[in-house]
Amino acid sequence: MRTLLIAGNWKMNGSLALVDAFARAFASVKLPARVEVALMVPFPYLGVAAETFQETPLTVGAQTLSDRSSGAFTGEVSGAMLVDVGARLVLVGHSERRSLFGEDDAAVLARVQAALEHGLRPVLCLGETLEEREAGRTESVVIGQLAAVCDALDPAERARLVLAYEPVWAIGTGRTASPEQAQAVHSAIRGRLAAYSPALAEGMQILYGGSMKAANAGELLAQPDIDGGLVGGAALQVDDFLAICQSAG
Ligand code: PGA
Repeated sequence: MRTLLIAGNWKMNGSLALVDAFARAFASVKLPARVEVALMVPFPYLGVAAETFQETPLTVGAQTLSDRSSGAFTGEVSGAMLVDVGARLVLVGHSERRSLFGEDDAAVLARVQAALEHGLRPVLCLGETLEEREAGRTESVVIGQLAAVCDALDPAERARLVLAYEPVWAIGTGRTASPEQAQAVHSAIRGRLAAYSPALAEGMQILYGGSMKAANAGELLAQPDIDGGLVGGAALQVDDFLAICQSAG
């Protein structure tokens, strides 16, 4: 049985006060048995979040990383630095990175490799735009993004990935994929993973993201191939995020 992962993605939001509010709320919470919870916070809050969350079940993650190890790359943050301040996970290839910051499949692969090299768990984000869905290209786009990374990794590296299917048209729009729509894509992703190895397909956590909230999390997480959520807007309110975590499992 796969463990469920609920990961909050604060994007460029949050504050020290919000880190504190999450630490206090999660210090006494009892989560369902099969549920892990992570928060992907902006760089400046990583170190303090990792320390503050020590007495809670929360794990800390980053939202991106450089594909370089160190050197004269002003403004960049390396995987080693993320590990140094207590991050365990890192998002790679979020659609906002792809569309707003020009990260193509090659850039995404380089960041996944950098994360793996430093012992971080990459959460690789995949998803189609509305135009691609309407053109009937959902599966080919998502599987293409997956293969662009997985084909270049060895089996042990592939097994360390977490995947997040996030239809771009559902991110921050309040429009969620129906459980059936999400399940269909998750199942296609798992089918493609089986071509690498049945054990990889069976073990891979595939999260759903895109306007997940307390009201729809239960039915999405009940789908056989949905193993958690990547939660944006609803991860900025402690109560909403807690309710999503409680509805898993
Ligand atoms: P959302 O964002 O939950 O606000 O749609 C999800 C994400 O972008 O990871």
